[in-house]
Amino acid sequence: PVDAVSPRAAGGGAATVTASTGTYRVARTGQNAFTAVTAVCTHEGCAVTGFANSRYVCPCHGSEFSTSGAVVNGPASSALRQFPATFENNVVTIAV
Ligand code: FES
Repeated sequence: PVDAVSPRAAGGGAATVTASTGTYRVARTGQNAFTAVTAVCTHEGCAVTGFANSRYVCPCHGSEFSTSGAVVNGPASSALRQFPATFENNVVTIAV
């Protein structure tokens, strides 16, 4: 669910979601648009916990990824896996 004080409530925010299937980064890219990617860095497997300038940042070696998971800066060379995310009735659903 997305509530009024969530970092996802405003466009450009991002949050970490942990589910039984893994940990994901979820970003709001538009009023009703969200993206969801795995939070596991493709470089050496660190948790991608940072978020700055609309990019996910891996704290281990500084790789940067777009909100759709594409590599913006290495050393990672592969994109974060993206999962379909839908938004309805203030709930984001990630299809994994
Ligand atoms: Fe993420 Fe190295 S593990 S940049």
